[in-house]
Amino acid sequence: MVGLEIEGRPILLVNIDSRIYAHLDACPHQNSRLSEGTLTDRILRCSRHHWEFDVCSGAGVNPQTAHLTALPVRIEGDDILVDIDAVGPFGPAAKGEQNQ
Ligand code: FES
Repeated sequence: MVGLEIEGRPILLVNIDSRIYAHLDACPHQNSRLSEGTLTDRILRCSRHHWEFDVCSGAGVNPQTAHLTALPVRIEGDDILVDIDAVGPFGPAAKGEQNQ
């Protein structure tokens, strides 16, 4: 799990079983950096008030009404390409795949 800034936007990248997931690196609760939280298997726990999310689906675990902001991602060679202008329910990318 890593937090980046791309063109001024906080981006969270997570590798789960060699699949890359991209989300805005901002907790839907109060915008804390999710990359400062902890990741256990596929559950990301925000460091601030401990909301939890499934990073593969983006769905809230606690509370279930919350949701991460997913970004489309694809891998080209050694590059991870994230469309920071699009938001929506996008899936992961693995080498040679596109998730849009
Ligand atoms: S800011 Fe993440 S749980 Fe409150």
